[in-house]
Amino acid sequence: MDAAGWDERYRGSELVWKAEPNRFVEEELAGLEPTGRAVDLAAGEGRNAVWLAERGWEVDAVDFSAVALEKAGRLAADRGVRLRTVHADLTAWAPAEAEYDLALIAYLHLPWPEMARVLPKAATAVRVGGTLLLVGHDAANPERGYGGPQDPRVLYTADRVADLWRPYADVLRAETVTRPVSDPEGGGRTALDTLVRAVRR
Ligand SMILES: C[S@@+](CC[C@H](N)C(=O)[O-])C[C@H]1O[C@@H](n2cnc3c(N)ncnc32)[C@H](O)[C@@H]1O
Repeated sequence: MDAAGWDERYRGSELVWKAEPNRFVEEELAGLEPTGRAVDLAAGEGRNAVWLAERGWEVDAVDFSAVALEKAGRLAADRGVRLRTVHADLTAWAPAEAEYDLALIAYLHLPWPEMARVLPKAATAVRVGGTLLLVGHDAANPERGYGGPQDPRVLYTADRVADLWRPYADVLRAETVTRPVSDPEGGGRTALDTLVRAVRR
């Protein structure tokens, strides 16, 4: 979906996603000392970026949807924290090297050749010793999980992400993880996500 499509999806006062952080973001990063600057790539309405800011990180929230970033700014203000919102298409994003202590990517789904350009940029944007975390819908999800994008060209595998980060970082976790979700009738289902965590070398 292009930026206009995402703007349309985000228009309206309701949040498309929740205001609380993603469970894996919380589990992985709650114990990480807020040592400085974090970047949330494809931050959307800011649920994860705001949570990081609340924990003491200085956060840049990057997204190509201006509507999403406006909502992220409002969520931050409601919660009494500051976010720096950056309106940018990640396929053309050119961060300075070693600018951040933490880079987060949560549920950004692009065709793989584009993802393969974004992921190394995310890695080099992080200083040595800094953390990289990616969470997204797994390639096995359409067959064995529930919900999420169904197009295999935009889905992750832990190995593919880890392979792109290994030249820059030590990979600590690279696996498929399960997330309980509800179907429209309120029934319990399980979604499969990719989770990769690495430390910049
Ligand atoms: C599924 S949402 C995830 C939002 C947020 N990370 C979260 O977990 O709540 C995907 C986000 O990616 C953004 N996005 C998609 N392609 C993008 C691109 N090329 N550049 C910047 N943002 C993009 C969309 O605008 C949308 O906000």
